[in-house]
Amino acid sequence: MDRRSFLATAAGLLVPQTGMPSRTLRSDPFTLGVASGDPSTGGFVLWTRLATDPLGGAGLGGMPSRDVDVGWQVAADERFSRIVASGTVTARARDAHSVHVELEGLEPGREYFYRFRAEGRLSPEGRTRTTPAAHLETPLAFAVAACAHFEHGYYTAYRRLAEQEPDLVVFLGDYLYEYAPNGYTALSGKRVRSHSPGKCATLADYRTRHAQYKSDRDLQAAHAVAPWLVAFDDHEVENNWAGPVSSTGAPGFDRRKAAAFRAYYENMPLRRDSLRGAAIRVNRRVSWGSLARFHLLDTRQFRDDQACSDGVRSGCDERLSPGRTLLGDGQWRWLEDGLQSSGTRWNLLGQQILMTHRDYRAGPGRDVNLDSWDGYAPERVRLLDAMSRTANPVVLTGDAHMHHLADLKIDFDDPDSPVVARELVATSIASDGDGYRDRAWIADSLAENPHISYIDQRRGYLMARLTGDELSVDFRTLDHVSRRGAPARTSHRTTIEAVQGA
Ligand SMILES: [Fe+2]
Repeated sequence: MDRRSFLATAAGLLVPQTGMPSRTLRSDPFTLGVASGDPSTGGFVLWTRLATDPLGGAGLGGMPSRDVDVGWQVAADERFSRIVASGTVTARARDAHSVHVELEGLEPGREYFYRFRAEGRLSPEGRTRTTPAAHLETPLAFAVAACAHFEHGYYTAYRRLAEQEPDLVVFLGDYLYEYAPNGYTALSGKRVRSHSPGKCATLADYRTRHAQYKSDRDLQAAHAVAPWLVAFDDHEVENNWAGPVSSTGAPGFDRRKAAAFRAYYENMPLRRDSLRGAAIRVNRRVSWGSLARFHLLDTRQFRDDQACSDGVRSGCDERLSPGRTLLGDGQWRWLEDGLQSSGTRWNLLGQQILMTHRDYRAGPGRDVNLDSWDGYAPERVRLLDAMSRTANPVVLTGDAHMHHLADLKIDFDDPDSPVVARELVATSIASDGDGYRDRAWIADSLAENPHISYIDQRRGYLMARLTGDELSVDFRTLDHVSRRGAPARTSHRTTIEAVQGA
């Protein structure tokens, strides 16, 4: 008997329930690991999805078409000797045998351990935590990550992130990519493994792709170490989609989007009320005591189509049109309310796309990315104005596949325009493959954009330590992801002092 089975027997997790027909799955159904997310003072969401063969069975991961009962346990200690909550939930075939358990009633500000059981098999164990009581300014260590193209590299950065044992992981989009095998070639030109067949179009396709990504052990380690706050960007559905508009113009985008959202919910530790028919709600707030409030944004679902047919280009006046929106009216009001009423020392905006102005053309003229906030410039001014009236705002960003550290200003062309907030952009976990460092190109980019002080094109993540006095951020980078085992190092560090009484 292995250690897991022994502990399960000792804790009663293997005892068959009375009246339950005794059935067994042919092999381990916990090949996709476990996860937790969206912590509160009294609980969190626990997640798993059963799959005996991640790529098998038209999105059902080799599972039979019947429902399966899943037991779960939460313990106060790593050895599961003090079980504080337990129960059974049905993994339904119609939900691709995914399970979401929402817990409340636990103690604030402490660590918990959890695991699942299905038909005599035991899952790996996960660690998670509740948030501190609302009046406490308890310090927080959190990681920020984004963009993990499966073909472009191994997930060593996820492994290194897990080894640092953060309290919380913030994931800002492109968790998976929808492309067919070889549908998007990395800048490095290398491919270390292959996507499941075909580009994602149907619910079965997206479910299979999620299962493929989740079968990676390094990713599983990152999920098992801490609760995650997840938000999607474009590739969880389709490259550069905007609200109702597909970037390819192919018919049936509503159906495809609904399928992608459903698979996203099924495969993420999100609360049950995030899935709303054909839509999904991921803009939400999570507070960490009186220290910080995370405001997670959705910059895809409610945006106007990209100006001037999208792309990185110059001479687009449409991007300056004041009526255009990236957040949509409802989310804008929600965010403005939340920034005004937060009451916490820090306000951390977790969002997908580069907020700072970035001119991609060296010398005269200006090329901007119309998919990022530069394509929605007047709304950025309104947002920065709202942020200037909230306590210690910081923006956390993904998408760029490069680390950036930037000053956010109402007027980026005016050196005297005050800095409203700093933007911390996490490079990719794997997307675009091996690290490189084109020093001349970086020097040109920094000269062109004096409000940006750091850029790094290698893979990695951010590791941040937050107290009432300061936010200290390590930009973690790896030299390669085309081979396993690269160490992560801190290639840059910045400290942001809190404005007290702000
Ligand atoms: Fe990406």
